[in-house]
Amino acid sequence: MEGVAIVVSLVVVFVKIIVLVVVCRRRNRGGSSTVIPDSRFLTLTMDKFLHDMEREKPIRFTSQQLRIATDNFNNLLGSGGFGTVYKGIFSNGTIVAVKVLYGTSNKRIDEQFMAEVSTIGRVHHFNLVRLFGFCFERQLRALVYEYMGNGSLDKYLFIEKNNLEFEKLHQIALGTARGIAYLHEECQQRIIHYDIKPGNILLDVNFLPKVADFGLAKLCNRENTHITMTGGRGTPGYAAPELWMPFPITHKCDIYSFGMLLFEIIGRRKNLDINLPQSQDWFPRLVWKRFENEELRALTVDCGIEEIHREIAEKMVKVALWCVQYRPEGRPEMSDVVKMLEGSADIRKPFNPFQHMMDGNYPAQSVHASQTCTTHDSDSSVMMTGSSFIQATPIMTKYEIEIASA
Ligand SMILES: Nc1ncnc2c1ncn2[C@@H]1O[C@H](COP(=O)(O)OP(=O)(O)O)[C@@H](O)[C@H]1O
Ligand SMILES: [Mg+2]
Repeated sequence: MEGVAIVVSLVVVFVKIIVLVVVCRRRNRGGSSTVIPDSRFLTLTMDKFLHDMEREKPIRFTSQQLRIATDNFNNLLGSGGFGTVYKGIFSNGTIVAVKVLYGTSNKRIDEQFMAEVSTIGRVHHFNLVRLFGFCFERQLRALVYEYMGNGSLDKYLFIEKNNLEFEKLHQIALGTARGIAYLHEECQQRIIHYDIKPGNILLDVNFLPKVADFGLAKLCNRENTHITMTGGRGTPGYAAPELWMPFPITHKCDIYSFGMLLFEIIGRRKNLDINLPQSQDWFPRLVWKRFENEELRALTVDCGIEEIHREIAEKMVKVALWCVQYRPEGRPEMSDVVKMLEGSADIRKPFNPFQHMMDGNYPAQSVHASQTCTTHDSDSSVMMTGSSFIQATPIMTKYEIEIASA
């Protein structure tokens, strides 16, 4: 009997050793997955990607993954002040826009980049373009955004002018205002956009608007150095006066840019058109003159706005005039703008925003545009807890960033 027991236990030990060896071999094979990914690996990667997306975490992609997704950066969508944008598609069918940032990476800005990406990646609102993830490698710094099927608003304002009904344009203005209000008033940390303009309002397949590129100024360390043709910051024509003068800069610079955008929506034209006679070349001043002379009806007719939309168009004119007040404190908060555009708050008569151009002084008034109070809800970005971090650097762990591969 004793002999049988010894044989049985020897067999058990032998089987255990074999099982252990097989498991170890399999694990080692899994660990060296950096070579050509097989289909099972990709499926696992995408399952995890989808899982992370649901958990609202920014994902770190490798340059190889983005190269595969973008077909070697072949499908160009456009380029702007911060980088070049390519269309990409992951193996699970998710379409993305990959923005390859200008410049090279630097170990010193590694932590700053992760911190900013982590913040932007956790900002979720229907009217803000979603950041899925990023790549931070020596040869490639890129951001991976949700893809917006109808591109940017500038095309519909300045090129295909009559493709969108005025009511749709009003909805686009309202959605944009809601997105900015969320950045200013409802995020855990206020985010100033600094570059609100038609090129940064993207439209989905149903022409619903989402604000793009928020947080980018800080991410690219350009908050204080975003220098453009005028020598100021932001984009000429949209940048608030304080951005190119030695005055304190607050979130009110976004309100000014939004006002300039509203004028362009109303007129379906560029605010500055040097091909027009001087009295009409700068649309915002023309709008003010028409408003001052109580000629808003004639203005809406000139802009091709139908009678049924006149009332809402006149509201938009007044809101735009409030938003571009010269003094930042004279401009409304974005949540007030939302209420005024929705029609749930009355709009008082705006002051002349361009007085300083006539007499070279600041306008005397510094009254707020609306007395309506701003309500904050608790819909702020969610912090993750209890997540596991595979192969993460300490910085990635700190900012709860996970890599894309399993
Ligand atoms: N998420 C996106 N989905 C679809 N198209 C995009 C997306 N992001 C950017 N684009 C396109 O790429 C172009 C360039 O974008 P960008 O580099 O941000 O420059 P800008 O904001 O100055 O226009 C945009 O005009 C837009 O048409
Ligand atoms: Mg942009």
